[in-house]
Amino acid sequence: QTIFRGKHFITLQEWTREEIDTLLDVSYDLKMQFALDRPTNYLPNKTVFLMFFEQSTRTRNSMEAGITQLGGHAHFLDTSNMQIAHGEVPKDTAVILSRMGHAIACRNCFWKEGNAYLREMAKWSPVPIINMQDDLYHPLQGIADLMTIQEKRGKNTRGLKVSVIWAYATTHKKPISVPLTQALLFPRYGMEVTLAYPKGYEMPDWVIEQAKKNALENGGTFRITNDQEEAYRNADVVIPKNWGNWVTNESKAVIDSTLEANKHWKCTEERMALTDRHSLYMHALPADRVNEVEDSVIDGPHSAIYDEAENRLHTAKAVMALTMGGR
Ligand code: CP
Repeated sequence: QTIFRGKHFITLQEWTREEIDTLLDVSYDLKMQFALDRPTNYLPNKTVFLMFFEQSTRTRNSMEAGITQLGGHAHFLDTSNMQIAHGEVPKDTAVILSRMGHAIACRNCFWKEGNAYLREMAKWSPVPIINMQDDLYHPLQGIADLMTIQEKRGKNTRGLKVSVIWAYATTHKKPISVPLTQALLFPRYGMEVTLAYPKGYEMPDWVIEQAKKNALENGGTFRITNDQEEAYRNADVVIPKNWGNWVTNESKAVIDSTLEANKHWKCTEERMALTDRHSLYMHALPADRVNEVEDSVIDGPHSAIYDEAENRLHTAKAVMALTMGGR
């Protein structure tokens, strides 16, 4: 499959394995060109609009630096200064921006109906809609995570034991999009995925069903545990990160007491000692270094966080080069 121009990038679940493999191949190639300081002028005179309803460090800067390195231009849009703030509908925003540029990227997390807002823009936009994180998916993070795992452990990821683990953090209403994306993606690459969380932090049922289906179809496995030590034991990759229990629609008091009861869900040296001795510690960042993880782990020999963050650049460039340019 070599025809990507105009393809929306809303969830990796809607990209085939072959398409994702091509995306990874282009990412590796762009990373090599970047290391050699060679020009990669694949998108001259092209503009990507970056609509941000939320803060960002990695996503914004990987997209902005990325399009510059591809010879194009990023236009940052603080949505509080757009007519969206006065109620302009997604159809009008999508049609108008698509007449002026070559892709529309959006981060809205919990704002404006999350994924439904991106879907509505995609319905009307002839240029690709790139999801920079909504309430359900973070495909730019997922593809960078997969690239990092392949770089560190080889392209054949079949049988690799990967644990996606809930971690404590003091604020609730955290997006579920990173662990959800990982739970769907990694079983498609034959990995043995464990999703670990304390009771009260369940993923929606459809995610679990889809993750199991992805595993079955691709030689991976998918299991759930409420025992964090079990998730760490013999793992090749651990990804402990806070995610919200907002999906349960519980009151703030119930969420606060659930959080309080689960303070011990933290990535510690002691828990890392249960993993394979060559295991990777990964985190999409930003990380809560007080509650989620000990400094000695996140700054220690298992940590791949900075390579993971750098790969956001190379994979974002691959997404733009293929969907905005290409054939
Ligand atoms: N991981 C990630 O998306 O980081 P930012 O929120 O800084 O973009």
